[in-house]
Amino acid sequence: MQKFGDNHTPEKLDAVEDYLKMYTQALKYQDFELVYFDGFAGTGEVQISGDRNADGQFSLWLEALPETEFSELHDTKSIIEGSATRALGLERPFDKYIFTERSAWKAKKLEELVSRHPHITAEISVVDANQRLLEFCAKTDWRKTRAVVFLDPFGSQVEWSTIERIAETRAIDLWYLFPAFWSVYRQISQEGKMTPEQERSICRILGTDEWKADWLKFEPSGDLFEQSRVVGHKQVDVVQITRYMIGRMRDVFHGGVLDQWLPLGPKKQHHFSLLFAWANPSDKAKLAAKLAGHVMSRK
Ligand SMILES: C[S@@+](CC[C@H](N)C(=O)[O-])C[C@H]1O[C@@H](n2cnc3c(N)ncnc32)[C@H](O)[C@@H]1O
Repeated sequence: MQKFGDNHTPEKLDAVEDYLKMYTQALKYQDFELVYFDGFAGTGEVQISGDRNADGQFSLWLEALPETEFSELHDTKSIIEGSATRALGLERPFDKYIFTERSAWKAKKLEELVSRHPHITAEISVVDANQRLLEFCAKTDWRKTRAVVFLDPFGSQVEWSTIERIAETRAIDLWYLFPAFWSVYRQISQEGKMTPEQERSICRILGTDEWKADWLKFEPSGDLFEQSRVVGHKQVDVVQITRYMIGRMRDVFHGGVLDQWLPLGPKKQHHFSLLFAWANPSDKAKLAAKLAGHVMSRK
């Protein structure tokens, strides 16, 4: 089993599951092959911990360890169904499931889970989610297929180019757990400093470097004796970073991107923003936005 999560995890998974239920119901009479793509699939089970996970960083390093190596950290607070279990258990399942999970031991657990659903067509790949998604977007006949993609990374794994390819299909609905706090906000110091690698990572997530001009202000120090000194300030918060990402996604999603998002994180801190975008520009596809908005408003 994988260990991470807090009270925000069920909130996130309930939202996506509720959407999947409505999606498969709404499209049941349409002549499309329906695909569910879970890019960061995990094991199918999530252990919700208590106070230890109050610090999101703890979850990050704990997650990197195989289960056997942190048995002493094992606590059995409560186990909930992860995204894969929920999607496979839908009353009206998708025609096809694609799971990518970079960790081999987790993929093995997923195989066990999938084997309990012999009537379901599912593929599990131990690869980087971006790589498999690019292939999926390029090789699928989008005249005959509709898909929901769920991207639930811990950090900065989702590349902007992947978001663009998803949008170009004009057929995918995307749920993206955008890591606004740890992977963007916290990478920049209050003085507007970051390492070249941190800067590159933010650019990979946002697909541009224009954020620097908007978020960082540099001005000469007011101190007369230090005329050459320049003082920097970070002038952005997590909400503004989320709005910036929504704006970036609006440039490429011809359907749209919801204005609304679910702020998620341990102890009600806003670490992640669960975003929803739909790539299909047709009027009919606006139903997707209505369903997603409904799901978010109930949380
Ligand atoms: C937050 S967990 C996902 C949890 C899952 N959605 C669930 O509900 O059980 C993120 C998962 O992504 C996996 N992962 C990390 N980087 C990845 C990558 N580049 N491609 C695919 N999976 C990755 C991790 O091993 C981890 O299991």
